[in-house]
Amino acid sequence: MIIVLLGPPGAGKGTQADKLAARLGIPKIATGDVLRAAVRDGTKRGREAKSYMDRGDLVPDSVILGILQDVMTSPATKKGAILDGAVRTVPQANGLGVMLDEIGKKVDKVLLFDVDDDELVKRLSTRTVCEGCQAPYMGRDPGTSCEKCGGKLVRRKDDEPEAIRNRLEVYRRQTAPVVDWYRDHKKKVLKIDADAPVDDVTARAVEALGK
Ligand code: AP5
Repeated sequence: MIIVLLGPPGAGKGTQADKLAARLGIPKIATGDVLRAAVRDGTKRGREAKSYMDRGDLVPDSVILGILQDVMTSPATKKGAILDGAVRTVPQANGLGVMLDEIGKKVDKVLLFDVDDDELVKRLSTRTVCEGCQAPYMGRDPGTSCEKCGGKLVRRKDDEPEAIRNRLEVYRRQTAPVVDWYRDHKKKVLKIDADAPVDDVTARAVEALGK
């Protein structure tokens, strides 16, 4: 099963992708995590993406479609994938559809996590993430240790106030139209009220997926 997760920055896509991946036994593919690892490793893809990411802009579609081509043709996603933030423009939605069609697959479900802007800003401006496994934390200071892998917690550069404002604007301008694109292409978009405790949001997502 291939599930696309949509929603603004801070809506909890990464948090819920981990929960759904564990529950459904399919991997989470988060383009943000793939790009941050490429930046850390200093690869060509990482060098190309870094300035866009630091500002909170989207990296070019060609870079994302290259990542999606790699992961969706890999044995790791044979049984499916939870695509976390991997589709953020109409050309990406279209490109993914064409790519999956060529390998006899399709997007099965689309989940849209809905949270209002004040809550998003609060979540992002108080988040720290593990430098190693990228797990997100609320209300934990930078420099403390990750509970999952012992890595150091840091603040993301794109969680600075100006970058947060830009990411929300970019979401409205470039990613929100993807919802209508899926509806126009006969995919039901399952909207989840994600302004609730994490486990309640997971339960709503599981119910919407019929799992
Ligand atoms: P990415 O890392 O994907 O960032 P994002 O979409 O802005 O999403 P976030 O990780 O900020 O939020 P999230 O919705 O995953 O929420 P999370 O679970 O972390 O992408 C970064 C950058 O990479 C982009 O800006 C772009 O430059 C580039 N990029 C990536 N993909 C791309 C693409 N397809 N095209 C072009 N460019 C791309 O939760 C946030 C916080 O809230 C955490 O602290 C968490 O603990 C907390 N939280 C989660 N759920 C709850 C809850 N229910 N209640 C209270 N707190 C909660």
